[in-house]
This record gives sequence, structure tokens and C-alpha cells, in this order.
Amino acid sequence: MTTSHSTARFPHLRLRRTRATAWSRAMVAETRLTPADLIWPMFVTGGRQVEEPIATLPGVSRWSVDGIVARAREARDLGIPCIAFFPNTPKDRRSARGEEALNPDNLMCRAIRAVKDAVPEVGILTDVALDPYTSHGHDGLTDERGYVLNDETSELLVQQALVQAAAGADIVAPSDMMDGRVAAIREALEAGGHRNVQIMAYAAKYASAFYGPFRDAVGSGGLLKGDKRGYQMDPANSEEALREVALDLAEGADSVMVKPGLPYLDIVRRVKERFEVPVFAYQVSGEYAMIEAAAAAGAADRDALVLETLMAFRRAGCSGVLTYHAAHAARLMV
Ligand code: PBG
Repeated sequence: MTTSHSTARFPHLRLRRTRATAWSRAMVAETRLTPADLIWPMFVTGGRQVEEPIATLPGVSRWSVDGIVARAREARDLGIPCIAFFPNTPKDRRSARGEEALNPDNLMCRAIRAVKDAVPEVGILTDVALDPYTSHGHDGLTDERGYVLNDETSELLVQQALVQAAAGADIVAPSDMMDGRVAAIREALEAGGHRNVQIMAYAAKYASAFYGPFRDAVGSGGLLKGDKRGYQMDPANSEEALREVALDLAEGADSVMVKPGLPYLDIVRRVKERFEVPVFAYQVSGEYAMIEAAAAAGAADRDALVLETLMAFRRAGCSGVLTYHAAHAARLMV
């Protein structure tokens, strides 16, 4: 057998030679994984000194703003460059139109300001979508039949992104899958003087069964009427993912995201090869929960699963990964 690289054959060629020792494996490793490759998503709740464990995400808690600041310091000390916030909005502040998303004093904005104050060197990524604020759990406004309205939603997302940028967000990340929202947000950010606020577009976001624990974490799970297949992508499609990415880039996205992560690495690879832009993946809540469940059942070693899955994202072409294991993984790397 010959390859394009070499005409050598067994036994002159033995691929196991370079695998035989740790130093040699380190020397030929094609991919590196460092804390700088991680983005740490966290859940914000009200009050002071509050920690609320999330049953379906064992090991992950919602934190009040003071706790979020402590986590931000932890991120900085661990070399994690960026953290992402998701609020658990109190029920009495949720509404059909999700107006709380535009409140400059909402949980999200309070967390942004507190962290920018205390730990300015850590990047803050914010979620642009209405689901943590709506009484029906959808990412946008709905009509009387429950259909999520595109253009009307997009207008609110623009306002939401501006409120987050004004509070100090470094990267706004629209996760709503409305058409045309990246361009609208970019224009508004430019006009609003937020020239260096980046947009990471959740470009290829699939209607997935892996989001369950997240919806518990932000408190939208029990509220959700129907499903999100009318705006999030069909898991059957990958050509369409390329179209989504092309559009978001043309509209001014600085980077793009594929979500969920591990089951969609083929999408990551196709996007990376086609567009040569920074691609991120979100190892979502259900993926985290599966790893934790496997470890708890004694079916696999937790630390090894964490590092192997994160390396797989890097190998597939990701610049970075959003993962709830970020702090734990960073500690394993030192
Ligand atoms: C919603 C949003 C979701 C996630 C991030 N932003 C859930 C959804 O689309 O229902 C999921 C993240 C995760 O599961 O960890 N805008």
C-alpha cells in the first residue's frame, strides 16, 4: 500500500513508532487544547450570595451576580478568555413580548456591569434571544397561532443587543435563528458607537433534543409551548447550514457557531473548510448531562471524556468551544 506521502512499507514504515512514548506523542500531536480554547457559559439568578444547583445539570449552578463575579475571577485565573451569560428571569418579569430583555437593569446587564467592573480583562459573550424573558418560552414574538414572527422579533433583538452592548458586552451572540438579524444588529451597533462589539452568530443552530437541561436552567422549559422547529434547523440538513453561515457572514458576523456540538462535528468541518473563519461550537447542556451521567454510572472516566470531547472539537476545526466543563477542563490542563 502506498500513500501520497510516502512509498515506504511495513516494516520500514511503522506508524506505532511515534506513538510509543509520551514525549513522542506530544511531539507529533496535530491539535492542541488549552484553556484559551474555552468559553464558559453560566446562569445568572437574582439575590445575593445565592447558589442554586440545577438538577438536570449536575455540578452546574445558577449564581447571583456576586457569584458570577467570583466565577469571572476564576475564569481569568484559569486562562479562560471569555464567559457567557444566561439569565433565569423571575416568572413575574416574563411576558408575551419579553420586554424584560430590554431592561438595562435586568439580570444580564447587572452581571455584565459587575464583571466589567471587577474583572475587565475577561471577555463577556451575551445571548441575544427572547426565550429567557418570554412567558411562552419561545425565542421571539408569537402570533395568535403561536408562530414566531421574524421581522418583529428581529427589531426587538436589535434593541436587546444594544442594551447589552451599552452594559459592556464584548460579543453579542444571537441564538434566535431569525432571518436577517445579524445585519440589523450590526447596523445598530455601528450607529450606536459600538464598533468593536463583535457578533458571534449562532449560524447553524439545530432544533435539538439536547437543550433540555438548559431550559431548566433558565426556567423556560416548563413554559415552552410547542417546539422550535419553525425557526431552528432540521437535524437532517447540512447544505442549509452552509447557507446559514454564508448569510450571517455576509451580514457582518465576526465568527459563527454550530450547535449542538459533538453530534454536529461534520457541520463544523464543512463550515471551516468552506469559509475559513473562526468557528465555534457549543457543547450544549444535554451533551454535558450525558457525560456526567456516564461518569456517574461508572461507564466512563469523566476527566478523560471531558478532554477527549473537547479535543475532538478542536480537531474538527473549532477555534473554541462553549462548555459547562470549562473550569474543570482548564484545571485538568495545567
Ligand atoms: C435559546 C438558547 C438555547 C441554548 C442556548 N440559547 C436553548 C434553545 O434554543 O431552546 C441551549 C444551550 C444548551 O442547551 O446548553 N436562545
